[in-house]
Amino acid sequence: MPLIKQRKEKLRFQVGIDFGTSSTKIAYAQLGVRGKRVRPVLFDHNLPHYPPFALPSVAAFDQNGKLQMGIEAARYLSDKSWDTGFRRIKVVVAGKYDDSFYDEVTCELYQKYLLRSGMDHIEPEHFTVLYLAHAIHCARTAIMNKFPSSDIDIAFNICSPIDHIQNNKFKPVFERIVAAAENVESQWRDGGRLESLLDAVVLKYNETLYRPHDEATRVFVIPESVAEIASYLVSLQARNGLHAVLDFGAGTTDLSIFNLYGIETDETTTYWYAARNLPRGAQRIELIIKRYIQRDGIVVSDKDISHALNNLKKFDGEIIRDIRHELFELWEETLPVWKEAYVHNPYQPEWFENKVHIFTCGGGAKIPSINEIFRQSWISGKVMYGSKFHPIKTLPMPEDYDSVNNRAPFDRLSVAYGLTIPQPVLGKYILPRDCPVHHQPDRPSSGTRIMIKRCSCGSPAVPGENKCINCM
Ligand SMILES: Nc1ncnc2c1ncn2[C@@H]1O[C@H](COP(=O)(O)OP(=O)(O)OP(=O)(O)O)[C@@H](O)[C@H]1O
Ligand SMILES: [Mg+2]
Repeated sequence: MPLIKQRKEKLRFQVGIDFGTSSTKIAYAQLGVRGKRVRPVLFDHNLPHYPPFALPSVAAFDQNGKLQMGIEAARYLSDKSWDTGFRRIKVVVAGKYDDSFYDEVTCELYQKYLLRSGMDHIEPEHFTVLYLAHAIHCARTAIMNKFPSSDIDIAFNICSPIDHIQNNKFKPVFERIVAAAENVESQWRDGGRLESLLDAVVLKYNETLYRPHDEATRVFVIPESVAEIASYLVSLQARNGLHAVLDFGAGTTDLSIFNLYGIETDETTTYWYAARNLPRGAQRIELIIKRYIQRDGIVVSDKDISHALNNLKKFDGEIIRDIRHELFELWEETLPVWKEAYVHNPYQPEWFENKVHIFTCGGGAKIPSINEIFRQSWISGKVMYGSKFHPIKTLPMPEDYDSVNNRAPFDRLSVAYGLTIPQPVLGKYILPRDCPVHHQPDRPSSGTRIMIKRCSCGSPAVPGENKCINCM
């Protein structure tokens, strides 16, 4: 009897990889199917100091000199001193090209660890390539395990940690890193070993080119702010008016400010006024905590810091005063961003009290005092009337996101969620700083204009398209 070979079904996925300073968050969406959802990749790592949706952004050499990445590295480092291993790779590599990201303590620790490991010929770019290849590989494996009998085509969007995509020295570097990571991951699939892959990265890195228009390219670079706004526009389809979203990360704090019009109609228009990645984040709070715990002369590990962060409400006195001081300074750094946004819409009453809604996300948003400090209006000291405070709350979850019983809360996955929108669509966004400020006397004012229609299924369409992400 002739054998009838069953044809494997071809499934298309879009993966979003939010490359974070402390951990990487991954979400995916199946394309071309109705009613499908955006899901997080969960890791069964059982690490007490990382939530299940977090792939630790660390690497380390273990006791046998073997290079470990992500989960294995975090497990190995968990009871070691807080400052060993390759940590905050994102800040180290960005700080090499953009002074505002440069952090002396982080870079010194990184260099010391390289020297101790006899790896001083390896550049931070090389480790970043390997780490991102590892993240791509983890995402691919998770999807293949879920759909074992299907033929799978996956595209990946990885966010770049810079807000100013044009004229930024780091832009071509990060693009090269991502292109090299795509190459390395394919060798990984063919059974390459981590150490030999690292050697290959060192040899080939300089020759690698990022080719986003090449048909074969499957890994793309998207500015973090673009992924964020794409995600907010879907999750905040509730009210007209001014919104600000604050993402409190470990290494950066990102602030986006925009104005929504026409929510009740078939076509919503958004004016995106400002988007900035401030190079200051929750790792500074970790440093404050470390200083206090270390007073007792004990070795402070990752687990200790994580435990203290989760119990900050129990602390009082000097430590809380120092944390509040740090947060207040961070709030002051947001003021120029508010002013930048105001230039696009200089009509003061629109910026008062409950006219502006603030939403928070990111791991650092759980630090006590965040809401109290960041709900303050930048404009309050400058006018005679109007309240000092804006409403502030956690970023709401869009209907098509599956938080897996809150094991992966949306406010931690919002950037990864935004990155599950295919690159050709995200590529249409223009960051506010790359959009010329054309002052207009009449409102609505200037800023990056984004139109969102309603898809025939009722959900908001992807910006620039007529369909939502599920129906595309
Ligand atoms: N329960 C908590 N309370 C306070 N802070 C916390 C808590 N849990 C985590 N954090 C802080 O949040 C940080 C991680 O947040 P997040 O995952 O958003 O950062 P990231 O994406 O890795 O960094 P970035 O966006 O800056 O690159 C941790 O480094 C820690 O400082
Ligand atoms: Mg982040």
